[in-house]
Amino acid sequence: MIKIVPQVKSIKENDLQINFDEISLQGDLSEFAKKDLQSFITDKTEYYCSDKGYIIEFKILSDDHCKEWYSIDAQVNGMTVCACTEEGIFRAVTTLKQILSQPLCGFTLEDEPKNSFRGFMLDVGRYFYSVADVKTIIDYAALYKFNYFHWHLTEDQGWRFESNKYPKLTEIGSHRSHTNFGIKKESGFYNKYELKEIVQYCHERFIKVIPEIDMPGHTMSALACYPELSCFNRKLKVSTHWGIKFDIMCAGKDFTYTFCKDILDELCEIFTDEYIHIGGDEALKKRWELCENCNRKLKELGLDNMEQLQLYFANYLADYLSAKGKQTIVWYNKFDENDKIVPNKEIILQFWGTKKDVEFANVVKSGRRVITSNSSGYYIDLPYGYITLDDSYNTQGVTGIDDTKAIFGYETCLWTEYVKNVKKAKFNMFPRVFAISEIFWSGESNKDYQKFLQKLEFEKQFIRKFDVKVPRKGIYNPNGIRKFFSKLWFEKRQLVWQGLYLNIDNFMLKRKIKNQKKI
Ligand code: ACM
Ligand code: ZN
Repeated sequence: MIKIVPQVKSIKENDLQINFDEISLQGDLSEFAKKDLQSFITDKTEYYCSDKGYIIEFKILSDDHCKEWYSIDAQVNGMTVCACTEEGIFRAVTTLKQILSQPLCGFTLEDEPKNSFRGFMLDVGRYFYSVADVKTIIDYAALYKFNYFHWHLTEDQGWRFESNKYPKLTEIGSHRSHTNFGIKKESGFYNKYELKEIVQYCHERFIKVIPEIDMPGHTMSALACYPELSCFNRKLKVSTHWGIKFDIMCAGKDFTYTFCKDILDELCEIFTDEYIHIGGDEALKKRWELCENCNRKLKELGLDNMEQLQLYFANYLADYLSAKGKQTIVWYNKFDENDKIVPNKEIILQFWGTKKDVEFANVVKSGRRVITSNSSGYYIDLPYGYITLDDSYNTQGVTGIDDTKAIFGYETCLWTEYVKNVKKAKFNMFPRVFAISEIFWSGESNKDYQKFLQKLEFEKQFIRKFDVKVPRKGIYNPNGIRKFFSKLWFEKRQLVWQGLYLNIDNFMLKRKIKNQKKI
């Protein structure tokens, strides 16, 4: 059996024995794809490239297939690879890398994705990943046919996007004095040149980039630079520890809206693809409830509560982006279609956290576009004790929803609270990314775990070529005892002290406000 992950749509193998040493790449292959495949063949297979070896002929057809479709026909004297676009050819090249890494027989295959949005998210806010490390992660995403790179660029713990208008964001906001686990400073940001370099790197691999500036929550790194963005002009620090913070951007001040629009202007200059993510998760309303500006804004808008004010905030920015020709993605927050205010219909809602069947189904039925990032399978930041390989593969979609028609996109998330470098990222990614890529590409309804497991050993060997050593089965599919200890270790490192600190700080702030009112 020829082993390919993600599983191709159809493949027929025959008994033809194919033997060769030299490979000649010919036809409609871009310079980039040619070099990519040539260097793979030379460096990572037993073959070498020449002008006269076994011919792999690439053809771009004008047929009516989707842009990622391709076919491969392998005969004794040569192979023909067809696609309708360069993108299709590139996806075929990723498949060829796996095919050329195993014994060859004759075959014909045809392939195309079930889902046209297959996202991979990397959080560089918690820990900074160098340009080289980001490229490494993108290489893995490309190898497993992801086609969107969601780049989570800002967090409480670090602002990584260079802004000319607000230089303090990186001068101050890109450093945290120490981390959860260490006494060392954690710093870094990408200048405009580097940001563009990553965009180009992705585009060469037919991956679109979705930059995220998380707003109004998870913004301690920005508030530390511009206190006027916060509700009480507070002097805050870039967060050292993770956890949900109480201080978020003030939604009642004009400055906040100006700041956000300015940042989005700069962002749109660099990121030329159609989607922009404006975050919106875990924005507690503790400060807004107390803030005069936020309360005044709420009243002016005639809204009922602070959750609605956040919807207004997101809609306002989505309108702004829409006028610039962009589409907005936000992290989903619960709402009711009958509420005074609901998310703009154009906004794409990204579901996260645990499975929310009923909400999800209702939102989808109302005709809204959703991306699913189910945290019980696709959150690869979590230890294997929480999300085993089995869990990632067997994560269920939403009951009663035809996955390929109703769901706009799928995305796996690599948050980095516990993932401090690319070595740990690789540990967390593999083998789960094998499973996730298969669900995203081949479709939930075509899952076949037994077949997947038959391919796993090969896949582990294959990814070794790319400097990844997949951990033992006992690690990625742990037994009950291991799970228990893995969870204990993880929970213990959750931040009890940080929670205590936030509550004391909150208590003091409330007292101060009360005293000021008395005066
Ligand atoms: C999230 O997991 N906070 C989106
Ligand atoms: Zn406020």
